[in-house]
Amino acid sequence: MSKRAFLKAYLKNPSRTGSVLPSSERVGRAFARQMDRLSAKRIVELGPGTGAITEHIAENSPHLVEIDKELCRLLSERFPDCVIENRCAIEFLEQCHEACGLIVSIPLINNPERSNIIAAIRKAYQRGIVSWCMIFTYGLTDPLREVGFDKSKKIKSVLLNLPPAHIWLYE
Ligand SMILES: C[S@@+](CC[C@H](N)C(=O)[O-])C[C@H]1O[C@@H](n2cnc3c(N)ncnc32)[C@H](O)[C@@H]1O
Repeated sequence: MSKRAFLKAYLKNPSRTGSVLPSSERVGRAFARQMDRLSAKRIVELGPGTGAITEHIAENSPHLVEIDKELCRLLSERFPDCVIENRCAIEFLEQCHEACGLIVSIPLINNPERSNIIAAIRKAYQRGIVSWCMIFTYGLTDPLREVGFDKSKKIKSVLLNLPPAHIWLYE
């Protein structure tokens, strides 16, 4: 069901969805392992899609911000305890006033909104809204270099993901 919904979202808007398959279990578990040592009043996931990462961090009750209406419907069935907003992440970041740990699942490579998304994260970080941030990328370089986080580190490469994914943590 999740794979079909994901493929449908991909066919509707390939550059916004970024891949034909949701992330693998391994990527989700790699995110979850970091959660034990990261603290934040609330966790926000931008672009949760079908919830491939969300399911591994669900015990942290993440706030979910997803632009695709049908995926939001699926997310509300899968995660009835999470707050879900059918909204653009850029608008969310601009209007957010509460500090949070940010999980970015939105693909940035080939994304026509890339520079606007990065600018929105940068402004939110400068306003002190972003306590930490985690993202995965299919590229080999730091995907959020332009934000100017104090600390940035590639924490894991998951080669058994299609395509292989690299996870970065910023604090
Ligand atoms: C690669 S999928 C990630 C899904 C899932 N987390 C995973 O790892 O499989 C990217 C998701 O980001 C959503 N998305 C893209 N641009 C967005 C935006 N500006 N605001 C909110 N969600 C967005 C897409 O609709 C899609 O569901």
